[in-house]
Amino acid sequence: MSTISQNQSTPLPAREGQGGGSADLIIIGAGPGGYKAAVYAAKKGLKVTIFEDVHVGGTCLNVGCIPTKTYVHSATFAEAVERQPQVVEALRGGVETLLSHPNITLVREKGVFINANTVSGVTAKHIIVATGSSAKMLPIPGADGQNVGSSTELLGLKKQPKRLCIIGAGVIGMEFASVFQKFGSEVTVVEYLKECLPMVDGDIAKRLRKLLEKRGITFYMGAGVKSIDGSTVLFEQKGKEVSVEADYILMATGRKPNVSPDFANAGFDYDERKGIAVDENFETSVKGIYAIGDVNGRQMLAHAAEMQGIHVVNRILGTRGKEQGARVDGIRFDVMPAAIFTEPEAACVGPTEDQLKEQGVPFECHKSFYRANGKALAMNETEGMVKLCCEPDEGKLLSAHVFGAHAADIVQEVTAYITLGATLRQLRETVHIHPTLSEVLIEVN
Ligand code: NAI
Repeated sequence: MSTISQNQSTPLPAREGQGGGSADLIIIGAGPGGYKAAVYAAKKGLKVTIFEDVHVGGTCLNVGCIPTKTYVHSATFAEAVERQPQVVEALRGGVETLLSHPNITLVREKGVFINANTVSGVTAKHIIVATGSSAKMLPIPGADGQNVGSSTELLGLKKQPKRLCIIGAGVIGMEFASVFQKFGSEVTVVEYLKECLPMVDGDIAKRLRKLLEKRGITFYMGAGVKSIDGSTVLFEQKGKEVSVEADYILMATGRKPNVSPDFANAGFDYDERKGIAVDENFETSVKGIYAIGDVNGRQMLAHAAEMQGIHVVNRILGTRGKEQGARVDGIRFDVMPAAIFTEPEAACVGPTEDQLKEQGVPFECHKSFYRANGKALAMNETEGMVKLCCEPDEGKLLSAHVFGAHAADIVQEVTAYITLGATLRQLRETVHIHPTLSEVLIEVN
């Protein structure tokens, strides 16, 4: 068992290989899905070969979650630009150290399927595809302009845009709108739908948008972008042509799975738009080949990819000699929390109120507000709201939707209750430290 810690000051070099030979498990892609699965499998005694042709850590560590959070926690654009590479390199070193496990061979090249058991000359009985996703750019005139880019290009800017136009008010659009407004850029968001953050409870999404509007961000909702002409973004709203001028245009209109033509050599089903088709155990249509994380198009979240990888490895270990479909662990993929790191944060777990209504599930809704919470007042963080949905009579918890400071941490607590099948009454009966923000949960009406 390895005792290497991610906090070690000098990272050990990962054991590198050339490809060739055999392994128990091949993993293509060393993002959060791939590298966590590699380390977990190696610790359990499997011989792993992992391919990565860019940087270990994937989108999340290099151009996604981690750099974005560095921006959120920097006071100025200049500070964010300076800190970003330091944070990313430190974490990358940590991942390299983890991958230096004696059971892991890291091959720094693209893993290419030769057939269903062979990737770039290495053969294995089990293969995990964890190739991630990339930004989906709108196929509109002007989208290839110099001043137009995805979040990856925006994170690479050395000069702060004075005027930033963001196309799309999804997770990426809202996070960058919040952070660039804080840095002092003039931010405009153009969104096709009537409300931001389609997967978040409508009540929470509206309150968050209104708060950001009050801070000075301009939102054009129900507005579909048609074209970009230099620094002008042209769109249609309520049948009228509208335009916005910007120094930089961020295209935050979704991500697409990273599929590759050599996948055809393995023979599993995949689609350019939807990614690799998998069953409930993330196995593709070819036995022994799995696809985890963004590339299967299920839940584009780093923590979802990680848990899918752990599940697949458990399955490889646990179903040796057992029939297909045997239960190997208790991971609840139906209880998937998510957070949007705006200021303040928004976070959720479980269905929205509207989804519960559509499903015809009997439920009740309980709310509380940050302004009535002692810690929130002391922190001067009084903007916020909690919504808990549960079965009738303070029964089994079904979902939580939170907007306010540290919303992600608050939702994490409810995630534990939902996973364990607890009721709202049991949550209320759990002693909460005073004064804490988490008391907003037991303060619900
Ligand atoms: P998204 O799918 O969340 O939002 C894209 C938005 O663009 C939608 O609201 C859509 O209506 C809008 N849009 C599309 N075409 C448009 C047009 N022509 N004009 C105006 N608006 C248009 O995609 P996003 O934000 O790019 O995120 C991609 C993925 O990455 C998501 O699955 C997200 O969950 C994940 N992610 C998660 C994070 C987190 O958990 N904190 C952070 C960043 C990304």
